Amino acid sequence: MAPLLRFTAITVLAAAVLYVPVRRWAAGGVCESQARMDGKTVIITGANTGIGKVTARDMAERGARVILACRSLEKAEEAAKEIRSQTGNKNVVVHKLDLASLTSVRQFAKVINDAEPRLDVLINNAGVMHTPRWETEDGFEMQFGVNHLGPFLLTNLLLDKLRQSAPSRVVTVASLAHTFTSGIDFDDINSQNSYHLEKAYDRSKLANVLFSRELSKKLKGTGVTSNSLHPGVIMESDLMRYRRDEWQGKFGEHVASALRKVVGAIFSVFGKTVEEGAQTSICCAVAEDLENTTGLYFSDCVPKETSAAGMDDEAAARLWDVSERMVGLKS
Ligand SMILES: NC(=O)c1ccc[n+]([C@@H]2O[C@H](COP(=O)([O-])OP(=O)(O)OC[C@H]3O[C@@H](n4cnc5c(N)ncnc54)[C@H](OP(=O)(O)O)[C@@H]3O)[C@@H](O)[C@H]2O)c1
Ligand SMILES: *[C@@H]1O[C@H](CO)[C@@H](O)[C@H](O)[C@H]1NC(C)=O
Repeated sequence: MAPLLRFTAITVLAAAVLYVPVRRWAAGGVCESQARMDGKTVIITGANTGIGKVTARDMAERGARVILACRSLEKAEEAAKEIRSQTGNKNVVVHKLDLASLTSVRQFAKVINDAEPRLDVLINNAGVMHTPRWETEDGFEMQFGVNHLGPFLLTNLLLDKLRQSAPSRVVTVASLAHTFTSGIDFDDINSQNSYHLEKAYDRSKLANVLFSRELSKKLKGTGVTSNSLHPGVIMESDLMRYRRDEWQGKFGEHVASALRKVVGAIFSVFGKTVEEGAQTSICCAVAEDLENTTGLYFSDCVPKETSAAGMDDEAAARLWDVSERMVGLKS
């Protein structure tokens, strides 16, 4: 056989043999829990698409009352319709929540606190990644505002409801990206002096980890748990949308589209599908054996160590204090 042909044959054979184990490895942990959620109420932010929608569908399948908290009521209603028809659970509702607006967060919390008799699980899932230096309605840098400050205020406003419904859980979707940064930049928390879109994302996700950890301490003995997690790398969600826009601007449509295809192909093998990406959120929300587990960071449905910055309790306490001031919980 000609060398090139032989090389091609071996490569194809190796790929064929390795595909299934590599895919299984890439798919990661699966939530094995069969726990039912009948009679329980679950809020999922950003549940109209991506892993949030899959998580919402899973909660509906388990019989929960599911509240999709989304910034677009139109998109949310479409997702809710789909989930209702797929699961047969009619108890799937939508409410407006724009995490880039403290007013909207307060309005949403009021609707829930006034109308919902209980809240068993809050899943802080919504997030944005690698946006230009945009600002939220309240003048916060967008990634820090939407990924951390909005959920921070939201969780605080719903704590009484969670406490009353204990045992209950707060699940915060962070990211492995939190390990890419050495710490929160308290001197420029709002990225006013300099903005680097990747660093801002990494720090916002570190903020998720620190917030979740500090919250677990504050909730000791209340029966409300708080855990954060990395869902995996999921290219098929919409999280890459601002990155795609950037590529388009930088390289033009053709190169950007080719780049997208290459990255897409690689991650279709080594990354997770949205179904696989939702598993750790689902585990943290429902698994019976995690009922009393709190203050941890999960990946692939099991606890993982975070970075040194992710275990910095002093930074966590400081971030809590700064965040309280920024969102107006404390003057
Ligand atoms: N995909 C990954 O590889 C990956 C890796 C690590 C961590 N994560 C984390 O996983 C979470 C979910 O991401 P995903 O991959 O499923 O992304 P996605 O498909 O882009 O979903 C993000 C969700 O957040 C919502 N959202 C964005 N800004 C919002 C705002 N201001 N107010 C309320 N909702 C808002 C989006 O709503 P619209 O549809 O209206 O924009 C959407 O529903 C994020 O926190 C992300 O950081 C993802
Ligand atoms: C959680 O704690 C409660 C109260 O102490 C206990 O009854 C329950 O068995 C514990 N659950 C797990 C999974 O450890």
